[in-house]
Amino acid sequence: MDAKVISLLANKPDTLNGRLEVLHECLRQSLPQITQSSCLLYDEKTDSLKKFLSSHHFASHGMDESLYLKSNQALFTLCQQEEGKLVSFATDDPIWQHFQQDPQSLAASIIPIKQAQRFIGFVCFEIEHLPQHLSDAEKITLSLYAQFISMMINEELSLVNTLLATVRAARDFTDFRDFETGLHLDRMACYARIIATDLAKKHRLSDEFIEHVHIFARLHDIGKIGISDTILNKPGRLDDAERSIMKTHVEKGIVMLEQVLNDYNLVDMRDTDMMRNIVACHHEYIDGSGYPKGLKGKQIPLEARIATVADIFDALTCQRPYKKPWPLDDALAELEKMQQANKLDAECVAAVRRNKAEFEKVMKALSDDKKPL
Ligand SMILES: [Fe+2]
Ligand SMILES: [Fe+2]
Repeated sequence: MDAKVISLLANKPDTLNGRLEVLHECLRQSLPQITQSSCLLYDEKTDSLKKFLSSHHFASHGMDESLYLKSNQALFTLCQQEEGKLVSFATDDPIWQHFQQDPQSLAASIIPIKQAQRFIGFVCFEIEHLPQHLSDAEKITLSLYAQFISMMINEELSLVNTLLATVRAARDFTDFRDFETGLHLDRMACYARIIATDLAKKHRLSDEFIEHVHIFARLHDIGKIGISDTILNKPGRLDDAERSIMKTHVEKGIVMLEQVLNDYNLVDMRDTDMMRNIVACHHEYIDGSGYPKGLKGKQIPLEARIATVADIFDALTCQRPYKKPWPLDDALAELEKMQQANKLDAECVAAVRRNKAEFEKVMKALSDDKKPL
C-alpha cells in the first residue's frame, strides 16, 4: 500500500465515509480521471441495494429505491463473480443508471464486496472517459483500491455483526423471541431507514448515517433480555407495577450495550454513540413525558426520534398477544394524533405519511406469517 495512503489514514477520519474520501483523493493522485468512488450495500432481508458511502458528500439521495438484486439479471450475475474481478461498463449499459452519481462520468468500474464468500455490496468507481481507455496498469490500481475499500467496510461490518450476534445469542437463552421476533426488528429497522432517507436532504444526513440507523435500530430493545418472561410474554396488558419493571429495559439495555462493547473492545468503535442513543432514548417523547430521562425536543437525538416512530408504527401494525394488527391508515392516524399531542417528532411522522407505499411494501415483505428470508 502506498505510503501516502497509510499516512493519510493514520489521521483517522472518524467515519467510514471520511476514510473513503481520503482513499478517493489518494486514488485520484494516480488516476485523476476517477470522478467518484462509492459503495452500495446489499440487504439480504429485502434483496435491495442501497447507497452506503460516497466520496461526494450527500450525493444522490434520489437513487432508485427499487433496486433489487435478484430481479436484475445483470447485477445478479455480477455479484456472483469471483472476488477481485473488476467489471467496467459505459453509459449505454443498462446497469449504468444504478451506479452513476456524477453527471460528468462516462463509465464506471465496479467490483463486488464479499465477506466470507457472502456478497455484501459493490464498490463503484466512476470514470470521465470510456472504460476501454483504461490501461491494464490502471485496472490493477483500481482493483487494489477496491480491495482496500472492501477490507475497510468488512472490518466495520464484522464489528457490528459481532455485536448483533452476541445480542442474538443472549436473546436465544430467554423466551424473548416470542415478544420481539426477528421480524419485528427487521421491519422496524426498514421503517427507520425509510424515515431517515426521507429526512436526509433537509438534515444533510449522509448515506452512512442512514445505513447505520438501519443497522443499529435493531438493537433498541436489547435490555428486554433482562426482563422476566412472565412480564415479557404476558398475554394481556401490563398493570402499573409490571409496566414500571418493563420500563427498566432501557437502563438494562444501556448497561448491556456498554458491557458488550467493553468485552469486545469496541468502545472506541466509530458510531457507537448512535447505538447508545437509540438504546437510551427510544422511549423519550418530544414533550418530555417519556422515559427514562424525560428529555425534550432536540435533546432527543434524531436517530432515536426516528427509531421511536418506526417502533411504534410496527407495534401498532403487528399482532401482539393482546391486540389485532391495525391497518396502515389507522396506525398512521394514531402516529399523527401522538404527534399533535407533542409526543412524536413531526418530521418523522410526516415522513411516514409521505412514504406510505414504501411502508406497505415492508409490511407485506416481512409480515409475521412469513418465514424470515
Ligand atoms: Fe423499548
Ligand atoms: Fe421494539
